[in-house]
Amino acid sequence: MTELCEVLIEEANVDGIAELTGRVVVLVPETGKLDQMARRVNRLMRGALERFIESDRFGELKPGQAVDLAFPGGMAADVVQVVLLDRRAKPLAVRRAGAAIAKAAINQPVSILTGPRREVDDLLLGILLRGYAFLRRFSDEDDAKSRMGAPSSIKLLVPNPDDVADQVALAKSKASGVYLTRDLINEPANVLTTTAFADQLSALKKLGVRVTVLEEPELAKLGMRALLAVGQGSQSPSKVVIMEWSGGGVAPPLALVGKGVVFDTGGISLKPAGGMEEMTMDMGGAGTVAGVMKLLAMRKAAANIVGIVGLVENMPDGNAQRPGDVVASMKGDTIEVINTDAEGRLVLADVLWYVQEKFQPRGIIDLATLTGAIVIALGDKNAGVFGNDDSLTDAFLNAAKSEGEGAWRMPLDTAYDRMLESRLADMKNSTGRPAGAVTAAKFLQRFIKEDMPWIHLDIAGVASIARNTTFSRKGATGWGVLTLDRLIADRYED
Ligand code: BES
Ligand code: MN
Ligand code: ZN
Repeated sequence: MTELCEVLIEEANVDGIAELTGRVVVLVPETGKLDQMARRVNRLMRGALERFIESDRFGELKPGQAVDLAFPGGMAADVVQVVLLDRRAKPLAVRRAGAAIAKAAINQPVSILTGPRREVDDLLLGILLRGYAFLRRFSDEDDAKSRMGAPSSIKLLVPNPDDVADQVALAKSKASGVYLTRDLINEPANVLTTTAFADQLSALKKLGVRVTVLEEPELAKLGMRALLAVGQGSQSPSKVVIMEWSGGGVAPPLALVGKGVVFDTGGISLKPAGGMEEMTMDMGGAGTVAGVMKLLAMRKAAANIVGIVGLVENMPDGNAQRPGDVVASMKGDTIEVINTDAEGRLVLADVLWYVQEKFQPRGIIDLATLTGAIVIALGDKNAGVFGNDDSLTDAFLNAAKSEGEGAWRMPLDTAYDRMLESRLADMKNSTGRPAGAVTAAKFLQRFIKEDMPWIHLDIAGVASIARNTTFSRKGATGWGVLTLDRLIADRYED
């Protein structure tokens, strides 16, 4: 696990400011009005802070942006970082300010004079999200540290530490959930095998999550032949892992279902070599479900949620499934495997059916790095959202908007379903390029019972990306963890 950086909460004390080392952060509203702590900084700097605020540079700052005033006279600190942030700034602007603080702090201690501001949770969350880096595989510790780009520790100087303790704990829980998702997605496939993945999920037991691992013999007994067919060319055993968080009385659970293909070579329908290494993130759906479950358990959510993931590896092999094979799913429907690279839907078909039979959930949300077609449609800015229930889908889109995670609704018209017709089985698993993300969703919908509220999230474009964003560095983003947590808090908690 990538650890969160250390967070200390201390009572603000004007007399201690001169002795703070590393970086000292001052939050200044657009009016330029300084609070008591900031006035002290200004006095120690002999008016330099006020001169900066009166300058054009300050006027050019946008909310959440920051400027460094280096080696302030009269203070032990290396830098006073001035962050423009109104007291009533929106949560996402506060988070952006946090990200600016993290981005500027390279392995240095940061002390934040929060002033009378009450919402320190979003500020801290922004720091922790942007402060993440996946450094476990660097052999040299100094090399790793130089890539950190995050504070070595965070000290929040607040009027009353007791007032913010709960907020700080919540921000840390959210960041821990996102960190788990990012770690799982960033981890290479030789390390994160199906077995290693299941072991990491079993570790959630420590937090009070009930974890059950179904092994191949049980999956065969249940009739999950579509899922098993995907993994039959791999040395790693296929598994289904169930994570139950029961914090909410007797209500039936919401089900979160994740595609967990630990590596997708395409199978016998082998992918081209260029970019194939990216398919180590093809377990992104499962990784996101894991992060949400961890967050729910850490914050002791008052909701019943079942997370379930299908863990397989898609390899070419003498025993691998062939294009043209026909497999029977757990539901009983038969599938002609036109393309062994359309494997995610085979895995999800059985897991979706199983979760409905076993748990009679009140709704299902599945997450999958399912198609290249969604990447062509939406790039890395939005996940594709397919929903059969407007109320649930709208609630999801609203939650995504609040969390600043891109999400765009896609169609599920019946007309697309006909494209799945097969010559010799109930359906085929691949239909060619037109509307590729939609036909994949329509395939999944065949395994959703009538009247079951359901959302399918195609996260192929957003789970791991090739650029830095405000809140994440190149690689896994953790997209979806915060949105799903908010949706659950808004809609499923008593
Ligand atoms: N895992 C891929 C989809 C993917 C593509 C994820 C790019 C992340 C980035 C999926 O299993 C796949 O190979 N889909 C095929 C389906 C096709 C054969 C119908 C695709 O999109 O090409
Ligand atoms: Mn594939
Ligand atoms: Zn795949």
